[in-house]
Amino acid sequence: MDRFEVPARVSDGSSSPVPTMAAYRKAFMDATNDPDAFWLKVATERLAWRTPPTIGLEGSYHTIAESPLRWFGDGRLNITESCIDRHADAQPDKVALLWEGDDPADVRKITYGELKREVSKAANALRELGLKKGERVIIYMGMVPEAAFAMLACARLGAIHSVVFGGFSAEAVRDRVRDCGAEIVITQDFGLRGSRTIALKDVVDRALEGEHGVNKVLVFQRTGGDVGWSPDRDVWWHEAVAAASDDCPAVECSAEDPLFILYTSGSTGKPKGVVHTCGGYLAYTSYTHEVVFDLRPDDVYACVADVGWITGHSYIVYGPLANGCTSLMFESVPTYPDAGRYWDMVDRHGITIFYTAPTAIRALAAQGDSFVTRSSRRSLRVLGTVGEPINPDAWRWYYDVVGNGQCNIVDTWWQTETGGMAIAPIAPATATKPGSATLPLPGIVPVLMDDKDRIIRGPGEGRLCLAQPWPGQARTVWNDHARFVATYFTHYVGYYFTGDGCRRDNDGYHWITGRVDDVINVSGHRMGTAEFESVLVSAEAVAEAGVVGFPHPIKGQGVYAYIVLQPGQAASTELETALQKILRAQIGAHAKVDLFQFVPGLPKTRSGKVMRRILRKVAEGEPEKLGDISTLADPGVVEAIKAGAKRLA
Ligand code: PRX
Repeated sequence: MDRFEVPARVSDGSSSPVPTMAAYRKAFMDATNDPDAFWLKVATERLAWRTPPTIGLEGSYHTIAESPLRWFGDGRLNITESCIDRHADAQPDKVALLWEGDDPADVRKITYGELKREVSKAANALRELGLKKGERVIIYMGMVPEAAFAMLACARLGAIHSVVFGGFSAEAVRDRVRDCGAEIVITQDFGLRGSRTIALKDVVDRALEGEHGVNKVLVFQRTGGDVGWSPDRDVWWHEAVAAASDDCPAVECSAEDPLFILYTSGSTGKPKGVVHTCGGYLAYTSYTHEVVFDLRPDDVYACVADVGWITGHSYIVYGPLANGCTSLMFESVPTYPDAGRYWDMVDRHGITIFYTAPTAIRALAAQGDSFVTRSSRRSLRVLGTVGEPINPDAWRWYYDVVGNGQCNIVDTWWQTETGGMAIAPIAPATATKPGSATLPLPGIVPVLMDDKDRIIRGPGEGRLCLAQPWPGQARTVWNDHARFVATYFTHYVGYYFTGDGCRRDNDGYHWITGRVDDVINVSGHRMGTAEFESVLVSAEAVAEAGVVGFPHPIKGQGVYAYIVLQPGQAASTELETALQKILRAQIGAHAKVDLFQFVPGLPKTRSGKVMRRILRKVAEGEPEKLGDISTLADPGVVEAIKAGAKRLA
């Protein structure tokens, strides 16, 4: 198995608290043996507190059903003072957000001094609109700096934001507005991506039809195109924010007050609102951002994710700004105007750390090396990946072609629920292996469970659990703590169950094998198969639907839908198109079926349970590996499914 030592260019000159393997081992042992002392030190040293905490963890996985975990419970702060004010005082002219718009020539540089003024103005405008501490705000925007201002403005007032990815449909926005009881929605007229415009305000208007809970919609003007307008409800950002004072004292919060809610998919049809709190989340994202990437004072750091996902929260906005670094925000897509966009951008801005997803790496590799080699990429030092397993071929292309064999690759495994990176190389310290997320970060104690729920010691493969709490961990599901406990803490009592499978090799390196539940990961977008199924069966022609993932060369996983039609209905490409349209309307543009197969029935046991294993094996092209099917009510269905199996063209 290939092993890549850390290139000298990466290990030399680190100023990080964890610059070597020896330092990593010590930090790991300290955080495992005395987590309170370790994390209190991290939190008090890294963040600006009004009242520094003296208490570490309260609660445990055994008592979590009665009360959520708490970290730094007696600490008081407003996280924007850590992310903005102290840097605005110490380095007002340093660029905080470096924005590159859809048009590569469209660049904005917002210094920490300006960030403080912009966020304060936005916060004052929101306060004028009636926003108070603890109230919820839905943010439905594209990748503009104002999206980050909006998040931080909520945090400045102690309000709770919930960013909804700009690809979600009106239905999905409405569900989230209702679930969190939002008072205010912040959006923009149109989004721009690869010269396409996305009618964000229009989606919000449709989402709010007949909804009475939302009092105000604050609208940032990106393109100036025509939008519908409700005069009593809608307010232009450029009017309200321009008129507001640029001095806004930050509202003091408890470390355990919620900072944001982020909806994510699980194995039921209904996405859940994962809740992160102020102190622990910021301490953890700040620590991991510095340690994993080996952040240095002059770095130009670029994470090209979207703020609609956890990666954008933790590693475009909160972690990087807490660390006072220059963080790039990218509005466009990797292939606009052509497949060299990222690497040209690296040269344009002197990017030193670049963080993206395997699906983008695979898509760009497929376009050929010339798009990469026309740039120098001289500035790059660390290359990160996140969101799904990276196949060794894509890893090598990233290492050899993009990084010229001189950068370390950090394959970072984590989840919306973990708040920050959990298993990942430490850039200056950890030798890497293509396809492995390597070693647990300090404070993370991975445990693999076998199929009899026994702990696997040493090398082996099983279900990944984490044994010990850490500060960045989600505290609950919004309005549904019982669901939080049932989803993560009942499969293995005393452990956090991740939903992922994992292999540990002889060196203790971790290889994530993918989800073991009914969650699929398409181009790094996490979706529940149950969400697809409930939308598909809502179509008149459909009686039953079974949806599974299958390996896809670019997207990582594709979506395979087995459809049982109502009597009298016939399969057709028109019907497939109609079903895609319904999915788009109910979930969003990213919810697309790659392969439809119309079947006479789903394989069910005599008790009526769908045997998903069979659906999965056929979709994966391994119909010979179905295993025992003797408990099926009608084995004949399987033959029909096997005979009609679909493949990508
Ligand atoms: O299956 C794992 C996969 O993405 C899931 C989490 O998705 P989400 O909450 O949307 O967060 C994505 C960004 C952190 C995980 O359960 N995943 C994430 N990173 C990796 C990964 N799988 C393998 N390797 C990774 N580096």
